[in-house]
Amino acid sequence: MRRASAIAHPNLAFVKYWGKANSELNIPFNGSISMNLSSAKTVTTITFDEGYDQDHITIDGETLHHQAKAGLRISQHLDRLREIAHTSTFAQVITRNNFPMGTGFASSASGFAALTLAAASALGLELSKKQLSILARRGSGSACRSIPDGFAEWFAGHDNESSYAIEIAPVGHWDIIDIAVVVSNKAKLVSSSLGHELAQNSPFWAARSQIVSGRLARVRAAIEKRDFSAFGHEIESEALELHAIAMTSSYNLEASWQSGIFYWEPSTLHLLKLVQEWRATGLEVYFTLDAGPTVHIICRQQQEIEVLQRISGFASDLNWNMVVSKPASGSRIISDTDLEAETKN
Ligand code: DP6
Repeated sequence: MRRASAIAHPNLAFVKYWGKANSELNIPFNGSISMNLSSAKTVTTITFDEGYDQDHITIDGETLHHQAKAGLRISQHLDRLREIAHTSTFAQVITRNNFPMGTGFASSASGFAALTLAAASALGLELSKKQLSILARRGSGSACRSIPDGFAEWFAGHDNESSYAIEIAPVGHWDIIDIAVVVSNKAKLVSSSLGHELAQNSPFWAARSQIVSGRLARVRAAIEKRDFSAFGHEIESEALELHAIAMTSSYNLEASWQSGIFYWEPSTLHLLKLVQEWRATGLEVYFTLDAGPTVHIICRQQQEIEVLQRISGFASDLNWNMVVSKPASGSRIISDTDLEAETKN
């Protein structure tokens, strides 16, 4: 019996991964930049045991059927690690998220990062951070950015070995925070995996491909210099460009044609306009969004109370959940004692 536990945080992209050059390998069309989020985490324990005749997977107390899509995706990922370790032993996987899945935190990012690290450790594989990032990417593209600490950049690369993420600034580098405002708990109609595939249907796809390399350089430089205004301008435009692409990526849903994907809810737009208004009156805050209705408000640590008060003042009768995160470390192995403490939290 070989067992290990790992913890990973989801990450929030400031320059987005949207569109794949190779869907089988999760090689993106463009590089991306992100920050690990301290308040959200996934803890995974894996046990390889000769006694199992298939993988047993439990996420947040729910056992996945090994033939169900999510179960298969995890088993296929374990196959990649088993192949490297030259073993065919099945495993039990127990995963816990401290945040609801499908509500604006990338559970697949922290999920596949924690799974990759725990499985590699349980199988006795000594892999570098680069190798772990490459492997995590195979499970879910954005997971490669949850392996390194703090702020990460994923190099798009051109093949399996050249597409991975590295740390570009450590956890303590900058005092920015993310206030995630979860405006809806509805599951999204179109998964991000499908959104990636449809992105090229947008007539604006070609324009985005031209913009994104300059943006990567500007966001990287703004993080390095801790230039919040330059950073904010870039990330807000970036988020809107992703959604402009999504909203103009036409597709067929069960034989009915749709002109594009709307990840937003009405409250999403309401909040985006509020952030713009607050900024016009001197409070320097910016927004970003992933493929969902959750609005991530980015500000400096000293503005946290003010921003929280403004959101609460506006949303006092709405059922919005707010989650504040600082930059967090990357994926790490945890001991049984730490696991017990994590499970109690
Ligand atoms: C909008 O990593 O979830 O969050 O590789 O198909 O698993 P797969 O996609 P995924 O896509 C995340 C897209 C995004 C932007 C980002 O995180 O960069």
